Amino acid sequence: MKIAQITDLHIGLEGQDTFNVDVRDNFLQILGEVVFSGPELIIVTGDLCFDQGLKEIYIWIKDKLDNTNIPYLVLPGNHDDAAMMMEIFEIDYSHGEYEIYFAKKLNKTTALFLDNSKASHSDNQKKWIKRQLHQADKNILVFTHYPTAKCKVAFMDKNYCLQDRKELQKLFHDYEKNIYLFCGHYHTEKLVHLDNLHIAITPSTYFQIDPNTDEFKVDSYKIGFRLIEVSKNRCMSTTKYIDGKLLS
Ligand SMILES: [Fe+2]
Repeated sequence: MKIAQITDLHIGLEGQDTFNVDVRDNFLQILGEVVFSGPELIIVTGDLCFDQGLKEIYIWIKDKLDNTNIPYLVLPGNHDDAAMMMEIFEIDYSHGEYEIYFAKKLNKTTALFLDNSKASHSDNQKKWIKRQLHQADKNILVFTHYPTAKCKVAFMDKNYCLQDRKELQKLFHDYEKNIYLFCGHYHTEKLVHLDNLHIAITPSTYFQIDPNTDEFKVDSYKIGFRLIEVSKNRCMSTTKYIDGKLLS
């Protein structure tokens, strides 16, 4: 089963200054590449909105995703409003804390979709993750916004890393099989392996961050997405890049 992951769109309002990057055109270019790749499912792992959740931005994104005629799932990032997303994307698996988390089988492989858009997980969500892992007995996939570890991207590790990452790591390490976790948030491409936990950070469709400095610095305006191939007990992925568009 081929899956495309898109992340960190940061779509602004029409005409909004998004630091000279044409975020809408970037997203549409990437979406075109995704459609050309022929996935069975598109997963958007958060930061759909530029800086805060806005209904008209979600409506615009939903329209573009609907037009692909490819099934898709969306998760919130720290620049989103989960409650608003539930309304616009008609997400019916709601939880008390306005978190979007659920499990789904992808080609007979269990996939957990987690909401850490507030830089942590609620206690209820952590209990739910524990139950899901208890019920599973094979390698599993996880899709979420924040990586579950510091990832040697100095600026993000210092300022915007997941707060309850140690608790999540313990939950994941207690699981006996492999966990392949796909996320965004860090605006870079990176693979991080912690025992059985394999974290793949997918590049943004906005810009990439220089991993080597703890001051904010754009590394590149190349934009990308990830293709994930899930087959029986195996999971492989690759990233694809194109040039992003700057406004003149
Ligand atoms: Fe982001």
